[in-house]
Amino acid sequence: MVNEVLFYLIGNDPGVYVDATVGLGGHTKEILSSLTSESRVLGIDLDRAALETAKHNLREYGERVTLVEGNFVDTPKILSRFGIARVDGVLLDLGLSSFQLASDRGFSYRSSSRLDMRFGKGARYSAYDVVNRFGEKMLSDIFYRFGEERFSRQIAKKIVARRKRSSIETSDELAKIVASSIPGRGAVKSLSRVFQALRIFVNDELGNLATALSVLPDLLNPNGRICVISYHSLEDRIVKRRFKELVSSGGFLALTEKPVSPGISEVQENRHSRSAKLRCILRKV
Ligand SMILES: C[S@@+](CC[C@H](N)C(=O)[O-])C[C@H]1O[C@@H](n2cnc3c(N)ncnc32)[C@H](O)[C@@H]1O
Repeated sequence: MVNEVLFYLIGNDPGVYVDATVGLGGHTKEILSSLTSESRVLGIDLDRAALETAKHNLREYGERVTLVEGNFVDTPKILSRFGIARVDGVLLDLGLSSFQLASDRGFSYRSSSRLDMRFGKGARYSAYDVVNRFGEKMLSDIFYRFGEERFSRQIAKKIVARRKRSSIETSDELAKIVASSIPGRGAVKSLSRVFQALRIFVNDELGNLATALSVLPDLLNPNGRICVISYHSLEDRIVKRRFKELVSSGGFLALTEKPVSPGISEVQENRHSRSAKLRCILRKV
């Protein structure tokens, strides 16, 4: 949804923009190319390996781009380190990148790599810790709450029974246990829900999103915008509620009355984009 992001995100030019989930730098590149040469982008990400690639991908922009390893909840602190008080736009493209999905950190149920799932530093637990040390009720609650998985209890029970024999080390070992807990043919959906739930829990994704949306609006200049791309209903609900609150406060305008979804051709090219929803607000004064 690059064109839609650029359409809603960019107002003031020259300006300072924050790509708070810079990943490999795809959106930042497009933002920088659509702005005049005095405009800058500060890119933040938790993932050091992604930032290394972003640095390479964005090298042609020189000092117009600054990359920082950090959590987007700390955007105010990060900006003040660079002497920036206000910005003209913030983009949050949530979740994980295809780069991370293909990494050896256990994000994918199709891979065989050690269960980790941490985006970067700061996470209290890895997926390995959760799967091997958390109690059955806690596991079941995680799968239900963050994956909306209806077989959460059966899956948690199987995990606890299986780890009594030996610890669950890899993503494919976990995938087999999950698949064997599901009656009938629904295993693929359950697999993605369970892996999503673990990732959301390990990285405190919903907590980080709520915190970010409480601090970011105060950083905006007039006509400054916040755009959020979310990938599941748990995230979108948080964005929708917070934006509604900000609009009711009188200082903000909703640029997207309804969330914007990708077009058919984008979904055909990239299946991962099919659940994307973009919402944007603008600071009036
Ligand atoms: C969907 S990808 C972003 C892709 C990026 N827009 C691009 O064009 O390459 C999401 C990124 O957000 C990062 N991320 C997730 N939670 C974060 C947080 N709390 N703070 C900073 N980065 C975070 C992930 O590490 C991942 O690289």
